[in-house]
Amino acid sequence: MSRKRVAVLISGRGSNMAALIEATKDPSYPAEIALVVSNVPDAGGLAMAQKNGIATAVVDHKPFGKDRAAFEHALQAALEQHRIEIVCLAGFMRLLTADFVVRWQARMLNIHPALLPAFKGLDTHKRALEAGVKQHGATVHFVVPEMDAGPIVAQEAVDVRPGDTEQSLAARVLAVEHKIYPLALKLVAEGRLPR
Ligand code: GAR
Repeated sequence: MSRKRVAVLISGRGSNMAALIEATKDPSYPAEIALVVSNVPDAGGLAMAQKNGIATAVVDHKPFGKDRAAFEHALQAALEQHRIEIVCLAGFMRLLTADFVVRWQARMLNIHPALLPAFKGLDTHKRALEAGVKQHGATVHFVVPEMDAGPIVAQEAVDVRPGDTEQSLAARVLAVEHKIYPLALKLVAEGRLPR
């Protein structure tokens, strides 16, 4: 079976993107990273993708101002140009319109640094510490129009330790992210999930 063509959308350092690239180096992995797109021109992840011989594109949201549809039109054009079949949001810090999300329904994943449905949105580690939860973690889910919602594909918890800081907790969660994102993409690329 041919490998599924995946685009990873990033806005920053791209460590989850790197974990996905690493996983696809196994020839038996059912997907390949065919494109990395950033909405931030100097995102650190772009150089790393290029070093791995992966096509990159920058679709800067700034020139589009408030016109999200026009931004997404440019994004869609890049995805079509590279014949993308699955989209992975990996630290992509732009909200997508319902139109775009529905177009990629059941073919677009996101990773969120919390045990959804807890702690949707930003500053998840800080809020988890403030709430005093004993467990925190990461979630990979299908993207639906509502932010940080949608069917969960993979999720893993970490213990919150006494003395944890935002940074120490984030690092422990990030290690889990790098594990579950490749696992979730594998399941989706193999079509092993009900849609
Ligand atoms: C990751 O922790 C990811 O879960 C989070 O941003 C970080 C990106 O890191 N995503 C969100 O907060 C989405 N709302 P990375 O660029 O090194 O993968």
